[in-house]
Amino acid sequence: MDDIKLVRRAITADEFIEMRQSVGWDYPEKEVISIGLKNTIFSVCLEKDKEIVGYGRIIGDGAFTLYIQDIIVKPEYQRRSLGIGIMNEIMEYIKKNYAKGTMVCLMAAKGKEDFYKKFEFVVRPNEVYGAGMIQYIDK
Ligand SMILES: CC(C)(COP(=O)(O)OP(=O)(O)OC[C@H]1O[C@@H](n2cnc3c(N)ncnc32)[C@H](O)[C@@H]1OP(=O)(O)O)[C@@H](O)C(=O)NCCC(=O)NCCS
Repeated sequence: MDDIKLVRRAITADEFIEMRQSVGWDYPEKEVISIGLKNTIFSVCLEKDKEIVGYGRIIGDGAFTLYIQDIIVKPEYQRRSLGIGIMNEIMEYIKKNYAKGTMVCLMAAKGKEDFYKKFEFVVRPNEVYGAGMIQYIDK
């Protein structure tokens, strides 16, 4: 959409929290978020005036292992190809800056696998790979 700009920039912890809240996701303490965002490799925002309506970022070792994380389009802006725009920008950045063989991973939210299949991600488990696995630390 004409009034929405795609900008390669970091976001603040407050903006990050607002994005996660908009889709009903939990989030860590603000101080923890700030550290995590600072360690982010690349991030992209969709801005409408000064409001962020879409976001996505890359984390990883900066050399051969990357994770795509926190892809969010605010609900009132979904299904207008904005998510595709965020992912295109992220994949273009990776292809331009990383070598052949770089492993790019992500964890799809429930039911969002088809969105990522458009970018040649394969679902695990399959005949070759086991399941992706996860835990949240609860000390
Ligand atoms: C997933 C998300 C980023 C997609 O953003 P979006 O701007 O709505 O997506 P687009 O309009 O660019 O979608 C392009 C295509 O992806 C697929 N897609 C998009 N949203 C989808 C959904 N909720 N379920 C299944 N497929 C979806 C569709 O094929 C869609 O094409 P279509 O509209 O012609 O059917 C957005 O729905 C979102 O932020 N959801 C909440 C947070 C989330 O789950 N993020 C993903 C974390 S892994």
